[in-house]
Formats: sequence, structure tokens, C-alpha cells
Amino acid sequence: ELYFMHHGLMLPKETHSQESLTYFAQQFTFKGDDAIAVTYPKSGTVWMQEILPLVLNGGDLTPIQTIPNWDRVPWLEEKRLKVVVDQLPSPRALVTHFPYELMPQSFFSSKAKVIYVMRNPKDVAVSSYYFHQMATFLEDPGTWEEFIDKFLEGRVMFGKWTNHVKSWRHTELGDRIMYITYEQMIQDLPAALRLMSDFLGKNLSDEVIEKISSHCSFKSMQANIMSNFTLVPKIYMNSDKSQFLRKGVVGDWKNHFSSKQLAHFSSVIYKELEA
Ligand code: A3P
Repeated sequence: ELYFMHHGLMLPKETHSQESLTYFAQQFTFKGDDAIAVTYPKSGTVWMQEILPLVLNGGDLTPIQTIPNWDRVPWLEEKRLKVVVDQLPSPRALVTHFPYELMPQSFFSSKAKVIYVMRNPKDVAVSSYYFHQMATFLEDPGTWEEFIDKFLEGRVMFGKWTNHVKSWRHTELGDRIMYITYEQMIQDLPAALRLMSDFLGKNLSDEVIEKISSHCSFKSMQANIMSNFTLVPKIYMNSDKSQFLRKGVVGDWKNHFSSKQLAHFSSVIYKELEA
């Protein structure tokens, strides 16, 4: 059994444990200057893990060259948090796949800021399908047809996409949260970085924005062993099956969905978003 249930969410045992969840819920303390990227899996998490520290540190590339992406910006709910938390420079960049209602009390009483990144669910499903093929700590996705049903029914890690999006859509966070889409970031990364840096109160020059944009491009990240996940042993991520940084484009769903699958997928998603 590769997963366990936590408040109705399927979580992989390899990366999560009751102990890590308890640590996050009860011992981890948010700070007022923390910046947290929140995503449903496969929506641009790793991209944000590359971006956030650079925006916060004014474009200093040293961490990109020396620390793996996942340790620069740990997942709050994962086992690894405890290992790296004391080494994180302030202001800290953090990331989570948790829904709003599972965030701990320390988050709600802090002034930590959130950047919620949303991606077209059809592209999320495609990306997730390939990720399930390569990540040995996740269940085999089966056929694409089968995987669409698993995805829509939330029988995947972190449950349904619609629940995640809805949970973060109406919050009490006011100006502590900003929303951006993966598609906006693809269309104009410097403009997206400007929105993020303004939100985080960083007054970055155009030159620094350009520098960050260039180091966070798909190509640069793909070429950087600290960012492309090839440091992760093949027994966990089998790069013969798929790459973590796979395509990095908008609209790959068009190469995967039949018209029948598209109609079904869209109607389920729309219905749930409206409910
Ligand atoms: P694809 O599988 O469609 O290529 P996450 O980090 O949330 O797991 O999301 C992974 C997806 O984000 C993958 O999508 C990956 O290629 C894409 N991604 C990561 N870094 C990117 C970048 N710099 N530019 C564009 N897409 C990126």
C-alpha cells in the first residue's frame, strides 16, 4: 500500500508520515515574513520553488547552484521539512499542497503571505499521468482513460483538483493571498515575477526581474541538476519513463483527450466548481 489517508486526502507514504503531519500541525511556527506557494500537484510547484527564493533574496543565484530545489523550499507537510527547517534563510520560502482548511493555527494567526498558483486542470491531469508513471512512490496510473476517472474522483495524491481550488478560493486571508496561473507565467514570466515581487513587498529592478526570469526558464531549470530532479535516485523517480521537467507548455491536453473524454472531464469539473 503506497498511500495513507489524512483527513480524506491520499498521501504517499514515501514522502509523508503521521509524524511529519503532526510536526507541521503542532510544532512548526509560521513567521510574518514567510512566503508560501500553494499548489495542487503538477500546477507549477517546482517552478515556484525556483522563483520564490530569488524574488526574496533579490536575485542572488548562490542557492540555485548549491542547494537542491526541494531543500531550498521544502514542502510543509513532508518528512523533509524537519530536516531542513533550521537551515532556511529568512525570509523563508515554503510550499504546500494542503487545502486551506488543513493549514495549522499558527498559519492563520501569522501574517505569512500566500501565492496560489492554479493551472488548467486538463494539463494538470496530463502532467500527473506522466508523473505517476515515473514516480515509483505513486500508484501506476493505468491507461489514460482509467487515469482520467481516478483524477476526477480524487483517487490521486491530495484528492480532487476542484476541492483544492475551491478551498483556497474564498479565504479570510485578504491581502495576504495573491492568485496567479501557470498560463500567465508561461505567457509572460517577467510580468508574473513583477506581480509576485510587488505582492511580497520587494522592489526589484527590471534587471533583477530579467535575471530571475532567465534562471527560472524551463530550459535553465532543465539544465540545472539542482533543479531538474535527476539527483533523485531512479528507484524513486524513473527518468527512463518520464522527466520531472517534462514539457513545460500550455495545452498538451490537446494531444491526449478524445472529444468524448474532453466533454466528460469538462462537465464534471464545471459542475463541481459551481457546486
Ligand atoms: P509538464 O508535466 O506539463 O511538463 P509540479 O512542480 O507542481 O509538480 O508541476 C510540474 C509541471 O510544471 C511539469 O509540467 C513541469 O514541466 C512544469 N514546470 C516546471 N518548471 C517549469 C518551468 N520553469 N517552466 C514551465 N513549466 C515548468
